[in-house]
Amino acid sequence: MSIESEQDLAGLRAAGKVVAEALAAMRAAVRPGVTTRQLDDVGASVFAKHGARSAPQLAYDFPGVNCISVNDEAVHGVPSDRALAEGDLVTLDVTAELDGYMADAAITVPVGAVTDDATRLIDAAERALTRAIGVAHAGVRLNEIGRAVQSEVQKAGFFVMPQLGGHGIGRTIHEPPSVPNHYVASDETVLTEGLVITIEPIISATTSRSVGPGSDGWTIATADHGLSAHVEHTVVITRDAPLVLTAA
Ligand code: CO
Repeated sequence: MSIESEQDLAGLRAAGKVVAEALAAMRAAVRPGVTTRQLDDVGASVFAKHGARSAPQLAYDFPGVNCISVNDEAVHGVPSDRALAEGDLVTLDVTAELDGYMADAAITVPVGAVTDDATRLIDAAERALTRAIGVAHAGVRLNEIGRAVQSEVQKAGFFVMPQLGGHGIGRTIHEPPSVPNHYVASDETVLTEGLVITIEPIISATTSRSVGPGSDGWTIATADHGLSAHVEHTVVITRDAPLVLTAA
């Protein structure tokens, strides 16, 4: 959506705050032995406190409140009885609906001590997100976001997965435009003031190929089972730095 009123902005900000609070609570609960369903419940209780609802559940009947993906799982992991182990990477992807507005954010969290490569992967995703937010101004081509993400990720020796990227958001979870994590020369879309989009580097240590959904009907993973990391914010495009709605 594009913001048309103070009410739109206030509504989106409120949804974004719920997402940030849920992510913080879930992050704090990450430890070896916790199940992904327990983490989902932590997020669900933050939603309940604010009267927020799960956007993927509303839009797609997702069988959980939040998407929780482990290691080679890139996106749309389903909360389950899987217990996290020391050394895992867990991605918490939270999209809340509050009073008709939706906001979406994700973080990848190390479980206990992880390898140096895993740490570098998370760092690269975070740097790519920061750099992409930095170029996302009104009047700039949308493909500058993909260019920024791709170059930061490749510089670190890692990969974007062209089938996975960001999207417009606001009234529902996935709206136009697509926000690729790679440079698409033919995309002439220009960012406009008030446009609400997600920026979400979803990256892999080893491959640009993603596969799925798998046998659960949801989970998309790296094709070679290498590690994945995913960080995301929902932002509003302005003439200057975007407003980050899902920042803590
Ligand atoms: Co998203």
